[in-house]
Amino acid sequence: MKNIVIVGGSKGIGLEITKLLYNNNKVYVLSRTAEELAGLNITHIPFDVTADQLNLELLPEVVDQFVYCPGSINLKPISNLKQESFQSDMQINFFALTDLFQAILPRLKKSNQASVLFFSTVAVSVGMPFHASIAAAKGAVEGFTKSVAAELAPGIRVNAIAPSLTHTSLADKFLNNERKLEAAKSRNPLQEIGDPKKIATTAVHLLSDDASWITGQIIHIDGGMSTVKTS
Ligand SMILES: NC(=O)c1ccc[n+]([C@@H]2O[C@H](COP(=O)([O-])OP(=O)(O)OC[C@H]3O[C@@H](n4cnc5c(N)ncnc54)[C@H](OP(=O)(O)O)[C@@H]3O)[C@@H](O)[C@H]2O)c1
Repeated sequence: MKNIVIVGGSKGIGLEITKLLYNNNKVYVLSRTAEELAGLNITHIPFDVTADQLNLELLPEVVDQFVYCPGSINLKPISNLKQESFQSDMQINFFALTDLFQAILPRLKKSNQASVLFFSTVAVSVGMPFHASIAAAKGAVEGFTKSVAAELAPGIRVNAIAPSLTHTSLADKFLNNERKLEAAKSRNPLQEIGDPKKIATTAVHLLSDDASWITGQIIHIDGGMSTVKTS
């Protein structure tokens, strides 16, 4: 039984990770809401990553796995992007991640087989119009992932998953009618939108001891979007 801290484990991909892990582990979810966690045997800690200070007394002395899920998708032409947009994307995707990671690191160091998982986006490896702000913020996450994986090896493994468009509340505004859904599918090499459950199974594998030889990797779960061209 491992102690697992999932920031943003209450919705979307994070919720699916929580559902796969809570039966056999002690799972702590930090998020603003908890409605979708009803009935799950987890510890919920109300927390806003952009506003709150972490109370470490609510977390266990040893943390075996740490996952950070909060993110954003604000797409704008570069000429309309204000400094505040860059700052808010950096805040939720990167600065809050580094704050929490640094706070929890001493407890990860107490684990025998610690592992960490972050989230990036396909838009870091493939240039996409209107993604300048989110691509920059997630680019920071990717650089951070590789650097801390090097610094903390062999004790702590650190990886990231870079999805393309996936069916969650975050992406709903791009998928909320049949026309948008079909257009999004048609842009993907596998002609599908991401399924948070399928991303969660890879996430759980990367976190687990079965992935003990995987660190510093950005795993692209994106229907081939980052590497495959079909026409
Ligand atoms: N979905 C996609 O198409 C897609 C594509 C590429 C990359 N990604 C990345 O994948 C990751 C997961 O995305 P997702 O689609 O699963 O997102 P999601 O459905 O919006 O879920 C995000 C989770 O983070 C929590 N969260 C958001 N803002 C928070 C805040 N200020 N403080 C505390 N918790 C907060 C949410 O819980 P509460 O609302 O309860 O706080 C929720 O549990 C993100 O980093 C995203 O950038 C997603």
